[in-house]
Amino acid sequence: MLELGCGDGANLLALAFYAPGCRFVGLDGSESHIAQARRVAAEIGVHNVSFVAADLRDPAEEQLGAEPFDYVLCHGVLSWVPADAQRAIFERCRTSLAPDGLACISYNALPGWRVRGLVREVLMRAVDPDAPPLERARQAKAHAAAIITLSTEAHPYGLLLAREMRLVTQCRDAYLVHEYLAPHNEAFWLRDLIDRVRGHGLAYVAESSFNRPDGQPVPTTIEALGSLGLASLALEETLDVLLYRQFRSSVLCRESAARHASHGRDMLERAEVALVLEARGDPFRLEDGAIETFHGQHGFQLDASDAALKAALVLLSSRWPAGLDLETLRVEVERLLVGHGLPPPRLDDLDDLGACALELYRAGQADVRLTPMGPSQVPEERPRAHALARHEARTGKWLTSKPHVTLPLDAVARSAVLAFDGSRTVDEVVDAVAREHESTPHDALAGQVRSTLQMLARWHCLEG
Ligand SMILES: C[S@@+](CC[C@H](N)C(=O)[O-])C[C@H]1O[C@@H](n2cnc3c(N)ncnc32)[C@H](O)[C@@H]1O
Repeated sequence: MLELGCGDGANLLALAFYAPGCRFVGLDGSESHIAQARRVAAEIGVHNVSFVAADLRDPAEEQLGAEPFDYVLCHGVLSWVPADAQRAIFERCRTSLAPDGLACISYNALPGWRVRGLVREVLMRAVDPDAPPLERARQAKAHAAAIITLSTEAHPYGLLLAREMRLVTQCRDAYLVHEYLAPHNEAFWLRDLIDRVRGHGLAYVAESSFNRPDGQPVPTTIEALGSLGLASLALEETLDVLLYRQFRSSVLCRESAARHASHGRDMLERAEVALVLEARGDPFRLEDGAIETFHGQHGFQLDASDAALKAALVLLSSRWPAGLDLETLRVEVERLLVGHGLPPPRLDDLDDLGACALELYRAGQADVRLTPMGPSQVPEERPRAHALARHEARTGKWLTSKPHVTLPLDAVARSAVLAFDGSRTVDEVVDAVAREHESTPHDALAGQVRSTLQMLARWHCLEG
């Protein structure tokens, strides 16, 4: 995988750490970012990634290597660089991608960014262009706060303006400087992006974030647009209008790559499905016909009455974050139903589990993985968090897990991850963490340390 504009390698280092058999190259124009990325790679013992300090427009070809890449990633760069660097990104994808490789490029999207663009212009006019970045951020936040106070709620424009300005007052300074006060910030309609990449021998495949909340239209909206005669790109762009879409992360391939329409079912049969949905029914009724409501992320709810589906959701949720392949899931569902004295599931119902898993994946409630996670690790007597986890606990507020799910860490969890260094038992870790967090009651600390260890084990963040 090649990452263009990889910054300090935060994304690439975690990918390389968990995939030692793959080759990764990161390119960035900032010498200091690249030096930092190389330092961390050495610290966490990652040897399958190399970092190149070069401008996108003039990359050191020999350092990229002669081998093509299966994947090219470019996140958080395209909208923020001038036109010649944008062209260089597309050209690099074309020249570096393997014949059936995929590129993923993220960018600010229209029409949602039209409104953010207005906010940006307002802020750019209000700040001193010669002030240092943090001072510009301070001035921008002060101006946004003043606009919120003065905006009128009597008109929808005032409400939208105040909402957008509130986002400015709440965001991190670094984000504000990079997003709103950057010299370049160009947002694209999907169709314009597709036209541009076509000029570089690339074609649009799909959206990588189709299953995130901002990319999820209500099915009835899609149906209604379909009945208006809208299809394909026209439908997608009208959804962008309705969803106030501001960001896209588009997957591209070479124009010459062989493509075939797939509904994902074949791939799903080879993958592992993992999900967690909470059923609050008490008592929970597994039998066919009894409706139970399952709750997921972002307010998602699913009413299920089919016994096989309910059993599958309960089984998968109990294994999270590990998952099951569909074949094993079907066997386990049958075992669970029969074990509860219920009739074995009908073949049709077992078959339908694949379609249900796909729907849940589309709704952003299930993870589909080609590499299985495996069951929870069993901690050793003196557990040791792996090198990436210890590095991330030292420098940030989350851990990156193998499926690239980020796990938030509060102050106590960060101390605990660092104290799990292989030299202490769990009780000794509790004592070490207690010395750092004297004001937290000992019992609460002990509970938090144990649940941090559980999290490390469940997400395979322990060594050994
Ligand atoms: C917002 S950061 C994104 C970093 C990383 N992709 C991420 O998602 O965390 C944009 C990066 O693009 C790099 N960049 C901008 N213009 C570039 C150019 N012309 N050549 C190489 N790198 C460039 C910057 O140095 C910066 O590290």
